[in-house]
Amino acid sequence: EEAQREAAFEARIAAGDFIEPKDWMPEHYRKTLVRQISQHAHSEIVGMLPEGNWVTRAPTLKRKAILLAKIQDEAGHGLYLYSAAETLGTSRDQMLDALHTGKAKYSSIFNYPTLNWADIGVIGWLVDGAAIMNQVPLCRCSYAPYARAMIRVCREESFHQRQGYESLLVMMREGTAAQKAMVQDAVNRWWWPALMMFGPEDKDSPNSEQSIRWGIKRVTNDQLRQKFVDATVPQAEILGITLPDPDLKWNAEREAHDFGKIDWSEFWRVVNGEGPLNRERLGARVKAWEDGAWVRDAALAHARKQATKEQA
Ligand code: ACO
Repeated sequence: EEAQREAAFEARIAAGDFIEPKDWMPEHYRKTLVRQISQHAHSEIVGMLPEGNWVTRAPTLKRKAILLAKIQDEAGHGLYLYSAAETLGTSRDQMLDALHTGKAKYSSIFNYPTLNWADIGVIGWLVDGAAIMNQVPLCRCSYAPYARAMIRVCREESFHQRQGYESLLVMMREGTAAQKAMVQDAVNRWWWPALMMFGPEDKDSPNSEQSIRWGIKRVTNDQLRQKFVDATVPQAEILGITLPDPDLKWNAEREAHDFGKIDWSEFWRVVNGEGPLNRERLGARVKAWEDGAWVRDAALAHARKQATKEQA
């Protein structure tokens, strides 16, 4: 009977059907989704930290208002995504516990420091740009609650990308020589980590094949990385900055850009907790959780009181 259910499920996937929470699904499909969606949620929440660092130092009221809105969007994305993962039968407490104990991953990119104001623009341009490239295909993920959440997330992500690019354009067109140098410095530091966001090369990606077969991922890590490089090169030209890769050049035969070798040892170091700020990022999340204990206790005490009142 199990084999029959599995075959029926595979047939639905093959027909392009979307799977809803109450539908039968293989255990491994459920697990893969909980892993990916919860890690995605953690990335949104941890991703607030590098930018939060600059709220008090934004150069103008306009930039501050934009930055605050963007960080609040990210909190919202985290909450939708936790909700989507909860529909698969995992509690938010379980997911947060996995983050806080270092069992769950979150995107490598958020373990790098934001050293100057241009970093905020570059995060919008490159980091959110890479995120959109990866997330637009997720709007067609075979698991419907995730796909639905991604539609709104992508619209907001697109605003994040544009605000970043626009702030860099202003610095490059109207800025001083020092401000222009700041943009170039930020691009030099974020370019390679942004390319790493797409994950290991397809040949080294243990999850890709099954996730593509199930329609969880629609496009592979390498394909998305290539699309990102091709989309970004002309934007860099308009900005007037150089991308820090001497091997980056147009390949007319492939109709795509060739680019240099990614330092995969750096990638795995960061993924495995040894990046520049892994300890600080996780420490900040654990502290926020512990500082919030009294709110959770009060909410539970209130709920208990309401329940006894209703019984009486
Ligand atoms: N940072 C940290 N871990 C990563 C990264 C990364 N940039 N890329 C891959 N990994 C991890 C995977 O999670 C996996 O580990 P796990 O099996 O313990 O979960 C391992 O490296 C091997 O990678 P893959 O087999 O390629 O994993 P997967 O098929 O899940 O693909 C990807 C990784 C592309 C990140 C996918 O999970 C995905 O599309 N996730 C949704 C998008 C997302 O999380 N974005 C977060 C950053 S953007 C933002 O939040 C603004």
